[in-house]
Amino acid sequence: MANIAILGCQWGDEGKGKIVDLLTEKTNAVVRFQGGNNAGHTIWVDGKKSVFHLMPSGVFHPNNILVIGNGVVINPHILWEEINQLSETGIDLKGRLFISDSAHIITNFHSAIDKIREEDKILTKGSKIGTTGLGIGPAYEDKCARVGLRFMDFYDMDLCEEKFYHNAGLHLSSVQAVHKNYELPNLDDIYSSLKEVSLKLLPFVCDTLDLLHKISDKGEHILLEGAQGCFLDIDHGTYPFVTSSNTTIGGALTGTGMSTKMIDQVIGVSKFYATRVGEGPFPTELNDEIGALLQEKGHEKGATTGRDRRCGWLDVCQLQKASLLNGLTSMVLTKLDVLDTLAEIKICTHYLVGGDVDKIENKFPNRTDILSELTPVYETLPGWQSPTKGIREFSELPKNAKSLVKRIEELVKVPVTIVSTGPDRLDTIIRKHPFAD
Ligand code: IMP
Repeated sequence: MANIAILGCQWGDEGKGKIVDLLTEKTNAVVRFQGGNNAGHTIWVDGKKSVFHLMPSGVFHPNNILVIGNGVVINPHILWEEINQLSETGIDLKGRLFISDSAHIITNFHSAIDKIREEDKILTKGSKIGTTGLGIGPAYEDKCARVGLRFMDFYDMDLCEEKFYHNAGLHLSSVQAVHKNYELPNLDDIYSSLKEVSLKLLPFVCDTLDLLHKISDKGEHILLEGAQGCFLDIDHGTYPFVTSSNTTIGGALTGTGMSTKMIDQVIGVSKFYATRVGEGPFPTELNDEIGALLQEKGHEKGATTGRDRRCGWLDVCQLQKASLLNGLTSMVLTKLDVLDTLAEIKICTHYLVGGDVDKIENKFPNRTDILSELTPVYETLPGWQSPTKGIREFSELPKNAKSLVKRIEELVKVPVTIVSTGPDRLDTIIRKHPFAD
């Protein structure tokens, strides 16, 4: 048995999809365990780009079954679209895709509420989160309030209908009480389309906990695919500017029903620089020409919402905290080639609180108010100013690029086993394969 979790170490968009795609060459099952279609996992194969929001990224390796675990919130319409999109390219998911019967459902009224709330915060000058507007938060709220609809509710559509109207009615009446002018979505339309899609998805629904344990007991390899990143975690992220699920290792367990005994390796993925979409503190953010260069060269636009990603230098304190929270056994660093033209590269090793040289903070703080007051202190390393795109051997990297990798390893105290040098599956340096003996 060798089961591996792949987690983001920053604010999402670290390039996990590519790494999952790469490693699933050697696995038998890939499972999503949290989040929903707020994720945008981009995979390039033979120069062709595919973006998925719910489908596990191992989809292009037919040796893998694809599991969407109980911790995921699923918009059934989006999932059905992805199933169809794949079917048009000849990938048939019947008997290959398994949806947890305990996974919660995002309906179109959840996304309507998400958008209304964000708009509300702008109007009241409250702190907007910058959500994806896809209903993730409201669906998880229903889960915690124990009123959510789950895939197992599709087994009894009469009861499902009753639950749907009761729940939606509660939500919409509370919205309407505050905002008389909002045009609310038509519940009958939402329910009839939900009913239609539920029938199409039912053949994929099962007890995935049982399935995953059986696979693991057989000694087959399971890859647990994280969505978003460590600092969007509802408990450990930059609250309230976070998503509504546990993106850290705990989420991988509760979101699948797998136990700690079943996870052999926890691999953290980070870019060589940092990005963030949406609002919230970002100590190393660069609002200058270097930030613009990273944005442009890194194509830093959200795969889900198309929003520009904010860009900045790598924050090593963040990686240290990601390692602590997740028990990282190794790291993957992505997008080395984006730094190719820079004369100098900075990495943040600590901060000054409020710009005061006597107030040094070595750790990525838990308190969002303190985070907003930090001035990053950088270590500056020389750049290499030569192309690294597509390099596949560590020994072929420019000396300064190798030094950067080694310095990050030294500071985070976790080995960097994979370096990504471009978007394609093949643009990768594998220093030690996670499945090597
Ligand atoms: P929500 O997950 O739509 O509720 O959005 C909450 C915050 O998480 C916002 O700042 C989003 O921009 C951010 N977010 C959600 N999913 C992703 C992702 O896959 N990549 C990067 N940021 C994300």
